[in-house]
This record gives sequence, structure tokens and C-alpha cells, in this order.
Amino acid sequence: MDKTTHAGDGEARSGRAARKGMRSRAKLSPRRASAVSDPSAGRLIAVEGVDGSGKSTQLHLLEQWLRHQNLKVFKTDWNSSETVKQITSRGKKKGLLTPTTFSLLHATDFADRYERNILPLLEAGYFVLADRYIFTAYARDIVRGCHPGWVKKIYSYALKPDLTFYFRVPVDIAVSRILMGRPKLKYYEAGMDMNLSNDPYESYRIFQGRIVEQYESLVESEGLVAIDANRGIEEQQVEVRERVMKLLGEKGIGAMKTEALQEYGKPRPRA
Ligand SMILES: Nc1ncnc2c1ncn2[C@@H]1O[C@H](COP(=O)(O)OP(=O)(O)O)[C@@H](O)[C@H]1O
Ligand SMILES: [Mg+2]
Repeated sequence: MDKTTHAGDGEARSGRAARKGMRSRAKLSPRRASAVSDPSAGRLIAVEGVDGSGKSTQLHLLEQWLRHQNLKVFKTDWNSSETVKQITSRGKKKGLLTPTTFSLLHATDFADRYERNILPLLEAGYFVLADRYIFTAYARDIVRGCHPGWVKKIYSYALKPDLTFYFRVPVDIAVSRILMGRPKLKYYEAGMDMNLSNDPYESYRIFQGRIVEQYESLVESEGLVAIDANRGIEEQQVEVRERVMKLLGEKGIGAMKTEALQEYGKPRPRA
């Protein structure tokens, strides 16, 4: 992706070039996120979109495919740090979080995973697949009322992904997909903390609609790759893999086999 690669860094450089430029800083302070060594050996791919847009489904299929190519893959989920998870879920259950504490807890969770997993594994040449990345915080926290500049600064140490997919889907479709899998919307997922409506479905529509607006502006400003997610799973996955193949071609990992991609989109032979 020909985009800025360090959050908050205004220069338009390729991910690889930007990471190489950070080598000298790494010598000063090796393990801190703000002073990384050389993560250019790996590739960082993120998925973004509202809940129910199909991100995890697509990332899982991508993960399987990359593993099948014998590439080293690590997947990391939003809000999954063992260190921070318990505090966040306690605060969430009791409805104790303000927009600022909500934002900072997620930022702590991210920082923990970033320093512990994302960065070291990029340095070790892994494909790091992020199920939600900093753009989730940009979109959600800004909608919750945090200052955009403040949110972006919190994550300014984080590398921009080589590729970020944005799964664009109408909110009504997203909510119907969620409700097919479980009976109720979750409190924060529906944005019930924002007092938009007493009806969780109405609240969800308003809240997620605002998040969609934020994502749409990020497509422009941050170069997210929009995928029409109002389609079948396989059709989308073909496009995702094509984009990843293109990235690999551009960024110099040429060893991947193309047969798997070519086979994937073909109609299955009838029995
Ligand atoms: N393209 C699709 N069409 C129909 N249902 C889908 C599609 N993609 C995913 N789903 C289903 O919708 C639900 C939400 O998908 P998921 O991948 O968990 O979304 P997200 O991670 O964005 O919240 C799951 O039950 C999943 O099986
Ligand atoms: Mg998911």
C-alpha cells in the first residue's frame, strides 16, 4: 500500500521504506514501540468494518490460505490482551466506562499486543493479521466524542499496515447477520452508552451509521481498501487474496503459489 506507514506521520512513504528508515532509532532503545528495530521482514494486514460486516470470516479464510503457502502467520484480535481484558470487561459489564476511559483501556490493550506480539513477529518475518487495528479506535472513539487529534496521537507510534481492508456493508445487513448468530445485540456494540435510543436496534443503527461515516472518511485519508461486503463470502475472499497477492508482488515476497487463488474462485464441479 503506497501510504504513510507510521500513524501520525504525514509523509507518503511505502511501508517497507518507512520501516527501513526506523532502523537507526532502534539502536537507541530496542523493545519500545516508539523505537522499533526492523519490522520490514514481515507484513501487516488489517481488517476493519462494523460488527457483522464479515471481517473475521474473511480474515480466517485469508489466514488458512497463507498458512497453506507455508508462510508464518500470526492473528491478533482487537481487545484480546490477557493483561487488560479482565479490567475492560469488568468496566464494560458495570457500564462504568466514559468515552475517555473506554478509549484508554482499548489503547492499553493495543499497546500490550503491539509490543508483545505484533512488532516482534513482524521483525521475525511473520504475516501479522489484525482483526481490527487503530482505525477501529479512530472510528469508535471519535464517534463517542473523543477529540480526533487526541485519539490519533495515542496511536501515533503504531505502524500503518501494508494493507487494510474495509468491509463496506449496509448497517441493516450487518445487524441481520449478527442476529442470525445470537439473540441480542451487546450493550457497547449497540452504542447504548451513548443514550441515542432506548431501543437497542435503533441505537445500533444510529451508532454504527456514524461509525460507517468515520470509516468512509478513513478510506480516503488513510487509504483503506474498500471491499463490497454485501456479497457472498467466496467472492469477497477472491478479491482479498488478489489484493494480498498484489502486495506480495510489490513488496518482494514472490514465493507464493498462485494456483490456490486461481482454484478458489472457480465453480465447483457438480457431483
Ligand atoms: N458474506 C456473507 N454473507 C452472509 N453471511 C456472512 C457473510 N460473511 C459473514 N457472514 C456471517 O455473518 C456473521 C458475522 O460475520 P463475522 O465474520 O463474525 O463478522 P465481523 O467479524 O465483522 O463481526 C457470521 O455468522 C458469519 O458467518
Ligand atoms: Mg469479528
